[in-house]
Amino acid sequence: MSKPKRVFFTGGSGKAGRHVVRYLRDRGHRVVNIDLAALNEPGIDQLTVDITDSGEVFNAMTSYANFDELEPGTGVPRFDAVVHFAAVPRILIRPDNEMFRVNVMGTYNVIEAAVKLGITKIVFASSETTYGVCFADGVVDPTVLPLEEDYDVDPMDSYGLSKVVNEQTGRAFQRRSGFDIYALRIGNVIEPHEYDRFPGFFANPQVRRRNVFCYIDARDLGQIVDLCLARDGLGFQIFNAGNDTNSVDLPNTEILRRFFPDVPVSRALGEHEALFSNAKIRQVLGFVEQHDWRKYVKPING
Ligand SMILES: NC(=O)c1ccc[n+]([C@@H]2O[C@H](COP(=O)([O-])OP(=O)(O)OC[C@H]3O[C@@H](n4cnc5c(N)ncnc54)[C@H](O)[C@@H]3O)[C@@H](O)[C@H]2O)c1
Repeated sequence: MSKPKRVFFTGGSGKAGRHVVRYLRDRGHRVVNIDLAALNEPGIDQLTVDITDSGEVFNAMTSYANFDELEPGTGVPRFDAVVHFAAVPRILIRPDNEMFRVNVMGTYNVIEAAVKLGITKIVFASSETTYGVCFADGVVDPTVLPLEEDYDVDPMDSYGLSKVVNEQTGRAFQRRSGFDIYALRIGNVIEPHEYDRFPGFFANPQVRRRNVFCYIDARDLGQIVDLCLARDGLGFQIFNAGNDTNSVDLPNTEILRRFFPDVPVSRALGEHEALFSNAKIRQVLGFVEQHDWRKYVKPING
């Protein structure tokens, strides 16, 4: 658990963010949700901000969290950390160019403001889609499995590209500031009520191929963000944010044989070890998953 921090959190009203802000609140952090949509969650402060407007972002980042912060009469406290999740979270919600603008300029604005205001910890949402399989035209093989953070990311779609640009943006601002800027390549987010989708995955595992069979429980994602807030001094980092095992009940030998027969495998794999590897968050951050799908769903194949 990290020391309680005052956290500027963008996108906390969304599918992933609402679970992460609850997790952070429950661990004692003071969280201000920065979003166009309201969350209405007890214990979470809220400010309506458009992250594509740099003036709004700078202003919000130098604002009181709520009325209680007026009381000491010591001015506006500084945020200890920025967690940036707000985005258009996939293709085919907005036109590609508008999604690209929101994601690329929004992330630029948030990271730039944080660095220029001296906020030394920035954690932001990248994506599994950077690996180029998810939104590819046609069936595309990864160049190697498991997917690990040193992969030469090469998406052909505009959303994956926006996340690659976000990673480069974080890396550039880290070089000029020396601050800690961590990008989370988030896997396919599963909320607690969504485990009822898993029997469908087991019956038709092909539907998980574009995700390279990954998932991240939204509450476990909260733990990963909390661990990032706790761990200082790593500079620029990319972390896959996924659970320990694949989102289907087939062993890796079977998944590889059926879905990736031509893909080289770089190392020995556990029987169910995630092909979207989370080894780095386990080794570097000490992540211990709490929400294996097997807690909520019975396998049908073995
Ligand atoms: N859901 C997934 O499976 C998944 C997987 C990988 C990465 N991600 C990334 O994780 C993050 C969260 O995804 P999500 O699924 O919760 O998405 P979501 O759409 O549910 O939430 C995104 C939030 O951002 C807000 N937002 C959008 N544009 C904004 C703007 N201009 N200014 C302020 N707020 C704005 C929205 O109102 C929304 O509440 C995103 O960066 C997404 O790209 C999601």
